[in-house]
Amino acid sequence: MTPPAFFNKIAKYYDFLTHFYMLGSYETVRRRILGFHQEDGQEVLDICCGTGYISNHVTSERVVGIDLSMPMLHANQHNQKRIGGGAFLINGSIRNLPFHDRQFKEVYFTLAAHEFPDLSEVLEEVRRVMLPGGRLIIYDLYEPPNRLLKLFLYTFYYYIVEQKCMWIYTREGWNKLLKSAGFRMQSLDAPFGLSALVSAVN
Ligand SMILES: C[S@@+](CC[C@H](N)C(=O)[O-])C[C@H]1O[C@@H](n2cnc3c(N)ncnc32)[C@H](O)[C@@H]1O
Repeated sequence: MTPPAFFNKIAKYYDFLTHFYMLGSYETVRRRILGFHQEDGQEVLDICCGTGYISNHVTSERVVGIDLSMPMLHANQHNQKRIGGGAFLINGSIRNLPFHDRQFKEVYFTLAAHEFPDLSEVLEEVRRVMLPGGRLIIYDLYEPPNRLLKLFLYTFYYYIVEQKCMWIYTREGWNKLLKSAGFRMQSLDAPFGLSALVSAVN
């Protein structure tokens, strides 16, 4: 996986770099991601929340963000001051979530799943803290059927952007992975061809 030191180093520039590498598309995608939100008073969790791209924009009474990198959480706090409000932040690992079983109704996991070679185990831990019937929304890189896009991904993205830490899946791959962790995949859209927006139910 991408070493935490990498995020510690780039935390201050993360928002700018993400905007740059995604050619400004994350704003549009964020609206689509947040379209899954259902306001029902239940707790929402953003795992690998980083600078708060999602968690600081979910309109729910209690949103919790967890991340391993303190500098990323500092950048998140900085963003919270700027927008006025945001998620309750916790410094910790998603491999060992500091929450009760069946605590969250909605979990967001954005731009981070590709960093975990052991994603199946990570998803099992995520499922542990989710309520039955709860929804997991994942947004990440995607292994596209298109050969040219695939070449672009396994060259430019793999070496330059992701520093050789990139484990990505096809539609079938996502389906299998989620199923093995106990989820049921409900939908997978591929915004801009290179990314997958996945919704799964516990
Ligand atoms: C590419 S950033 C994504 C941030 C945010 N979700 C977004 O959409 O912009 C990946 C984040 O995962 C965090 N991370 C990596 N490994 C982690 C772990 N084991 N537990 C919690 N956070 C982790 C990093 O510190 C970093 O903030």
